[in-house]
This record gives sequence, structure tokens and C-alpha cells, in this order.
Amino acid sequence: MIRITEDEIKNVKPALQQTPCYVQPFSRLLNKDCFLAIKEIEDNSIDLIVTDPPYGINFTKGYKSGSTELVHGDDGFSVMVFVDELMREFKRILKPESAIYIFTRFDVMPYWWLKIKNHFDAKNQIVWFKGGGGMGDLSGNFSFNYESIMFATNGKHKIRGKRDGSVWQIGKCKQEFHETQKPVELIEKIIKHSTDEGMVVFDPFMGSGTTGVACKNLNRSFIGIEMIKSNYDTAEKRIVSHTPQIMVFE
Ligand SMILES: C[S@@+](CC[C@H](N)C(=O)[O-])C[C@H]1O[C@@H](n2cnc3c(N)ncnc32)[C@H](O)[C@@H]1O
Repeated sequence: MIRITEDEIKNVKPALQQTPCYVQPFSRLLNKDCFLAIKEIEDNSIDLIVTDPPYGINFTKGYKSGSTELVHGDDGFSVMVFVDELMREFKRILKPESAIYIFTRFDVMPYWWLKIKNHFDAKNQIVWFKGGGGMGDLSGNFSFNYESIMFATNGKHKIRGKRDGSVWQIGKCKQEFHETQKPVELIEKIIKHSTDEGMVVFDPFMGSGTTGVACKNLNRSFIGIEMIKSNYDTAEKRIVSHTPQIMVFE
């Protein structure tokens, strides 16, 4: 484990400086409520935000088993009332010409979209076609075999690499570390399209730290926040113990 140097932390306020750095320069993991912790992040310091917040749709765990336990922070209220504030903070911390990608669902996307448009250029919906049967109302609805990712830019943002379409077919991953875990490959695709090596990626709802793992693979710096201690511990262990998968060919 490498600790950060004085030069590398010059843009980060003291509270962030107390936490250790994992391998990449300028990286931080925080076990805090992101609505509070984000205020400690310096203005104009982030190159990309990739995040998968609770959807705010009363999403329940274990539909099949009849459980109605709410996914934490996903009570349809606690997240939505803060979306405006979150967007203001995103605007403050993002550098010019940067981008944001936020996972969402069709039924709450309109609300998020309006809020995003107040601060950013809302560009597109990326559809992650994940295949499989999905869960839910098996005989009364079509299966959810996709997820939506809102893509917006902070001013003029250049997408790197070959021009892609907005439907991305990537297989689901095993939910090994988190019940809504996203594939590392999917997050890597986002990061590669919107940053260069050494840039700083921020995920305020990091769950099991998938964005951090992707950053480690791609040599990007990472600031990740997770409020629930058990999720945070999983993320920290996962990121610290991860050996970067070095890509020889794109
Ligand atoms: C949908 S999950 C993210 C899963 C992640 N994409 C992964 O691959 O593991 C959202 C996470 O946000 C966390 N969360 C909810 N409210 C939060 C808050 N106010 N601050 C920080 N984390 C929060 C939840 O505990 C949950 O782990």
C-alpha cells in the first residue's frame, strides 16, 4: 500500500487527507454519507463521475421470496430530495470538459434528467443490454434485460476511442460482493471513453467498489464513498487486494 505524497494531495482538503491511498496516486475511500463527504472535495478537482445510486423507487430485495426489505437509502424519498443538491455539488467539483454517468431506471429517469439538465448538458441514455431473464412479475411484465445509464457532460467533453453506439451489450456479473453489483467491464468502458490515464474518477455510491477496481485496472485515481460500513469494508478489501488486470490490447 502506497501512501500519497504532499504534492499529490494539494487539491484535497484535510478530512480527505486522513484516509489512506491505495496504489494509484490521489485515491481515497471514505465510509461516510456522500451528501456530507462530498462537501470536503475541492472545486474543479474531478475528471469523471460514474455512479450507481439507489434508484428511489421503493426497490425491494428478494421479490421472489416475498421479502419487502428496502435496499438501504432507496425509500423513494431519501435520495430524491437530495438530487438537486447532489447535482449542484457535482457541478462544483467537476473540472470543465468532464462527464457524468449515472445508472437509473426508466421510471425515475425523467426526474433525474430534469435535475441534470439544470446544471449539465444532458446528452443521452446509454442502454446496458445485460441479457438474461431478470426478476419481478414473471407472467405480467416483460423481463428487465437492460439497465439505463444517463450520460451528461460538463461543457464540451471529448469521448475517447472509436465512436460507439448507445446500446452496450455486456453480460451480467455474479453478485459476489453486492446485490446490485455492476460488471467491471462495463465501468471500464465508461472510464476509457471519458478519461485518460492518471485522471480522477469519483463514485459517491460505490457499493462494493466496482468503480475502484476498474480504476485500478486502468491506472486512474479514484475517490469512492460508501455509507454502509459492511459495504464499505467489502469495497476496501476488494480494491486493496485487487491485482490490476493489465490490458495489452484494446
Ligand atoms: C446500487 S448500490 C451500488 C453498487 C455498485 N455499483 C457495485 O457494483 O457494487 C448503491 C450504494 O449506495 C450506498 N448509499 C446509499 N446512500 C448513500 C449515501 N448517502 N452515501 C454513500 N453511500 C450511499 C448504498 O449503501 C449502496 O451500497
